[in-house]
Amino acid sequence: MSFLTATETEKRIKIEQLQPGVFIRLRDSWFDHPFLFNSLKIKTPAQIESLKKAGIAEVIYVPEKSDCQPLPLEEPKAAPTPPPKPAAPAPEDPVVKLLWEIKKERMGKLKEKQENLRKCTENYNDAIKGIPDIMDSMLSGSQEAEGNARILVTRIAAKFLTDDDSVMHLMAIQETEESIYYHSLNVSVLALMLGAKAGLTPVEMRDLGMGALFHDIGKSKIDNKVLKKPPPLTKAEQSLIRLHPQYGVEIVAKNSAFPKSAALVILQHHEQFDGKGYPQLLSGVKISKLARIISIVNLYDNLCNDPDPKKAMNPYQALSYMFTKWKKALDPEFLTLFIRSLGVYPPGTPVMLSNGGLALVMSVNPQDPLKPSLMLHDPDIPKSEAVIFDMEDLPEVTIEKSLRAENLPPEVRDYFNYTGKANYFVENIKKAGGGNV
Ligand SMILES: [Fe+2]
Repeated sequence: MSFLTATETEKRIKIEQLQPGVFIRLRDSWFDHPFLFNSLKIKTPAQIESLKKAGIAEVIYVPEKSDCQPLPLEEPKAAPTPPPKPAAPAPEDPVVKLLWEIKKERMGKLKEKQENLRKCTENYNDAIKGIPDIMDSMLSGSQEAEGNARILVTRIAAKFLTDDDSVMHLMAIQETEESIYYHSLNVSVLALMLGAKAGLTPVEMRDLGMGALFHDIGKSKIDNKVLKKPPPLTKAEQSLIRLHPQYGVEIVAKNSAFPKSAALVILQHHEQFDGKGYPQLLSGVKISKLARIISIVNLYDNLCNDPDPKKAMNPYQALSYMFTKWKKALDPEFLTLFIRSLGVYPPGTPVMLSNGGLALVMSVNPQDPLKPSLMLHDPDIPKSEAVIFDMEDLPEVTIEKSLRAENLPPEVRDYFNYTGKANYFVENIKKAGGGNV
């Protein structure tokens, strides 16, 4: 669809017909006008003035998103002549000049963001490719497994232990046979983020990462038919699955260099703070600190990435659910820290904005989680060039609410490459002013 055309319910209107409450789409490409959005709801007369000053003579009125109708035209035109060419923008106008300057800065930032996301995806794919070999060699008792896992985990941990900003990006991945590795890597990345936020030492971070990477390795000893069976499970099946922490410890024990506190994470990752977990019914701080971290991120990942897409929650829903239904089962301090690090709307959450637009939360800086980056849905911009912006750059726009996956129109899902999964990887961005070598 061209950006010049309007849908059946949408209408071209003159700029003079605008008033607060009217939702519009601009007729020019995002790259050809000085505004940050292609569509918006008019809120103030000053916005109308800015549009006029930018030489925009016509816009497209979107009735279903408007609070009121446009003003009637004072002199209705008799003949359906082609619309007059918009007056040339007045480049000398200081408001328009400023808008263009801000827009150009945004375009530069957008390129940086796209590049950072590309680099992050490349590193994520490299990491995921190495995991099957690491798992296989650990299962075979190879002494090399521990060393290779340590390299991977230390590399990810280092991204959280630097003075630079660590940005957690949403990774677009497809569900495959290897999804068990996505879970292992996702739990590792999230655990290391939380561990860094909790002030763990580099050695604790390494052990946390090792425990996270192999936390479910004991499942390899359990028949897939039981593992993949949809609920309800029989008592015997449940008991069998509950053996996987112990099986996991037996597997890593074959590797003499495997850190003891990482093995403890594997054993205790299903213990609960309220003592209702397994296998040893431990409670509170009797559970190792690292295992208390893993149990939080493991639950979060299971809620977001349930094998049954109908049951999977978006990350916002998962955090709310954890906070209301699982609060007693989780270490309260680490749970609060986890929510603070991911932000109220973690990456992977589809949201509605205060200007009526739809967006997908793409990344979060754990140092400043209230200002995530969003990908904006704009049918007039090809999805390969989708606009990603920092919320801190747009103080006038806020997130109104999170959206359930089923409420996302198919074309919006497609635009976001939305799979309903929430897998993350981390990339560093040099802080402005540098100082870090
Ligand atoms: Fe498990």
